[in-house]
Amino acid sequence: MMTARPARWHAFGMGGTGGCEIVGMAPSHELAAITERLLRALPSWFGIPEANAEYVESATHLPGLVARSGDPVGVLLSRRHFPGSAEIHLMAVDPQWHRRGIGKALVATLETQLINDGCRLLQVKTLGMSRPDVGYAATRAFYLSCGFEPLEETHDLRPGNPCLIMVKPLR
Ligand SMILES: CC(C)(COP(=O)(O)OP(=O)(O)OC[C@H]1O[C@@H](n2cnc3c(N)ncnc32)[C@H](O)[C@@H]1OP(=O)(O)O)[C@@H](O)C(=O)NCCC(=O)NCCS
Repeated sequence: MMTARPARWHAFGMGGTGGCEIVGMAPSHELAAITERLLRALPSWFGIPEANAEYVESATHLPGLVARSGDPVGVLLSRRHFPGSAEIHLMAVDPQWHRRGIGKALVATLETQLINDGCRLLQVKTLGMSRPDVGYAATRAFYLSCGFEPLEETHDLRPGNPCLIMVKPLR
């Protein structure tokens, strides 16, 4: 299992992402502040204050990957459920940086870490297709492009919102 690490432990330049670097961050108030700033830039996806507060709080106990171009421009929080399986808990990329490969680089970085740590399965939960939403249709297109497969849409996990579980075998 991955354990808590110093706040910054890995950084490298990403060729296709306009000079961004991806930095691993341990759970912290600094990571929570970065998460809060990025959620605020994405009101169409993150418009419910109570849900945002939960995401921000989660950054104080979940590890993160942060894409930076000077300032943070993207964040991914992940959760390790079992030695063999993990979940993307949250992803947010600054809208000014969309479609520049940052989301894909964040997922690829997480996958490399997980594979090196013996993890074999990654999941993500997002809004299901039975609730038409242009923004989340783009989100699903993103995860599909990263190699995730839709596993199940359930109405039990998030009352009032259809939840699509997507999975990706890691190899
Ligand atoms: C989803 C998100 C993290 C993707 O980040 P990104 O940096 O823009 O994604 P990338 O540039 O790496 O996109 C990789 C591929 O995903 C697909 N994709 C990404 N955005 C898409 C869109 N709006 N429409 C269709 N396909 C899309 C494309 O295949 C894209 O490759 P291409 O640009 O070469 O065609 C970002 O759009 C975001 O922050 N969205 C709002 C928050 C959100 O949805 N979070 C996840 C909640 S579960």
